[in-house]
Amino acid sequence: MNVLGIESSCDETSVAIISDDKLVANLISSQDFHEKYGGVVPELSSRAHLQILLPLVKKALAGANISSDQIDLVCATAGPGLIGALLVGLSFAKGFAYSAKKIFIPVNHIEGHIYSGFLMNDKPEFPYLCLVVSGGHTLLLLVESDTEIKKLGTTIDDAAGEAFDKISKLLGFGYPGGPKIQEAALNQRTDYKDFPIAQCKNEYDFSFSGLKTSVLRFIQKEYGEASKIPADHLQLIAASFQYSAVRALTTKVEKALQNYDVSSISLVGGVAANKMLREEFQKLSVRYNKKMVVPSLEFCGDNGAMIAYRGLRLHQNGIKYGFDFNAFPSLADHTFIR
Ligand SMILES: Nc1ncnc2c1ncn2[C@@H]1O[C@H](COP(=O)(O)OP(=O)(O)OP(=O)(O)O)[C@@H](O)[C@H]1O
Ligand SMILES: [Mg+2]
Repeated sequence: MNVLGIESSCDETSVAIISDDKLVANLISSQDFHEKYGGVVPELSSRAHLQILLPLVKKALAGANISSDQIDLVCATAGPGLIGALLVGLSFAKGFAYSAKKIFIPVNHIEGHIYSGFLMNDKPEFPYLCLVVSGGHTLLLLVESDTEIKKLGTTIDDAAGEAFDKISKLLGFGYPGGPKIQEAALNQRTDYKDFPIAQCKNEYDFSFSGLKTSVLRFIQKEYGEASKIPADHLQLIAASFQYSAVRALTTKVEKALQNYDVSSISLVGGVAANKMLREEFQKLSVRYNKKMVVPSLEFCGDNGAMIAYRGLRLHQNGIKYGFDFNAFPSLADHTFIR
């Protein structure tokens, strides 16, 4: 079986092909031009997806040596994401599948992230704890099967990636913030300032807005404004922030490890690229003797491979969709997360 996976929910256009359970293509084209605007401009994103998608599909097919009529399943991200951007990939997939009489599977982007550990050679084992940390979402989940996902906790305000992006902007590092904060924090001490971690009513929920405000207040008190911070202090603030953000995530995972009997733990989404977070996650897996699966960097950010894999598993579970399935903006609109 040949599966085509298309991702276009935000600022990455990605096309992947899974052939007989083997990933044979995963092309990712990132829209770097948003950097000068300090964030993703939705209209520009949609236009760029439209320009790049068809050439990328052709390139993936050629690279995998598979013709378009050999594709059996056409999967595309249907949401959550920027609606105009989603419509580009989803409409393309529908058109492709309809005209060639192939099976069409719309995929929830976050579910793509949740199961992205299965793209690795060493795969998660059910039930597993999954920490989803991306630009728009922060979720702690108990994943019991392909169709049973229990939500233990979520963010009550900003997503983890959003917090990295906002602090990066505040410190003048630019967008996307995660990699820039990580770079600035490299080899710096983490105890320059002890930024507080929020407590939430639900013990597995996350909150990052207090952390963000406390960084801002500290800057205002110590330096007056961000532009007056000396370069070496910028690095120290970045390191202290990163340390607090990582701890805010891992303390909740540790709590869940104490209360749920799981086989594996998995860390997924764009922020899973963070080195310190990966290291702390690794320590937890050793301490609690759990198998750990963290996707390689190409599968942490947005990618077509996770969409193709999720679509394939939905199909193998006998789940069917019609061509009237529409793009949706928010996670809750269509998901197996309960
Ligand atoms: N090394 C890193 N450290 C911390 N954060 C990072 C790192 N690399 C990327 N990120 C963050 O990951 C986020 C992007 O991840 P991803 O592409 O999965 O999010 P998204 O697709 O925009 O959101 P969602 O998946 O919730 O729809 C950005 O916020 C970025 O700053
Ligand atoms: Mg994503």
